[in-house]
Amino acid sequence: MRLATILHLAIIAVLIIAATSQAPPIRYINHTVGDNAGWFFNSTTNTTAANYSSWAASQTFNLGDYLIFQNELTVIQTYNLTTFENCSIDLSSDNDTVVYDGGNTVFDQALTIPVPLTIQGPNYFFSDANDGIQCQFGLAFEINVNRGLGLPPSLNQPPV
Ligand SMILES: *[C@@H]1O[C@H](CO)[C@@H](O)[C@H](O)[C@H]1NC(C)=O
Ligand SMILES: *[C@@H]1O[C@H](CO)[C@@H](O)[C@H](O)[C@H]1NC(C)=O
Ligand SMILES: *[C@@H]1O[C@H](CO)[C@@H](O)[C@H](O)[C@H]1NC(C)=O
Ligand SMILES: *[C@@H]1O[C@H](CO)[C@@H](O)[C@H](O)[C@H]1NC(C)=O
Ligand SMILES: *[C@@H]1O[C@H](CO)[C@@H](O)[C@H](O)[C@H]1NC(C)=O
Ligand SMILES: *[C@@H]1O[C@H](CO)[C@@H](O)[C@H](O)[C@H]1NC(C)=O
Ligand SMILES: *[C@@H]1O[C@H](CO)[C@@H](O)[C@H](O)[C@H]1NC(C)=O
Repeated sequence: MRLATILHLAIIAVLIIAATSQAPPIRYINHTVGDNAGWFFNSTTNTTAANYSSWAASQTFNLGDYLIFQNELTVIQTYNLTTFENCSIDLSSDNDTVVYDGGNTVFDQALTIPVPLTIQGPNYFFSDANDGIQCQFGLAFEINVNRGLGLPPSLNQPPV
């Protein structure tokens, strides 16, 4: 082959690779759960402030990202599908579940619970408040966590 042809083919190959490879995530993202509606349940009407399954489907999640829960007091993060589907926790028989409660009560700021995504694959979130009623009425969702950039050094020791 002539040199010009080889160069030509090489350029075409580079262009094809650039066009077909998926753009990698360029940074870690903090996802505010439910966007402006926050993470909220109205016990008077038994309704959630947002459709959290729809919200989750609109996002792409990677290791090292955070979910930011606003308003509600507790959130359960679990890798245990049984726990998620049952809307209840039994920490004695399940070591795949983390309870976040309290949140950040800094004066004049929305109550905020940041939850880091430290394990790839399915992650499930729900509220166990009101004996699971909030979860049964939709204060719950699942996501799939991709590898992305991998865990940042700050999260290499996930909370237990
Ligand atoms: C995301 O949230 C975490 C935990 O609150 C915080 O440390 C970090 O600075 C936030 N990152 C961005 C880009 O807002
Ligand atoms: C819950 O819903 C009822 C009926 O729509 C409404 O009157 C009430 O303000 C809501 N509560 C909160 C805390 O948003
Ligand atoms: C909310 O759901 C619970 C459990 O199903 C039920 O006991 C309660 O009456 C419901 N409240 C309203 C306002 O529908
Ligand atoms: C949320 O939206 C999905 C479709 O995206 C729908 O299937 C589901 O029933 C909705 N959930 C609630 C609680 O409205
Ligand atoms: C499901 O939750 C109920 C309480 O809501 C509990 O009694 C039962 O043990 C749970 N089942 C599993 C498999 O965790
Ligand atoms: C998931 O949770 C259920 C109910 O608490 C428990 O019986 C089971 O052992 C758990 N599975 C794992 C892998 O921890
Ligand atoms: C949970 O317990 C199971 C079985 O006892 C064990 O194989 C697994 O490594 C434990 N997971 C964690 C995160 O400790």
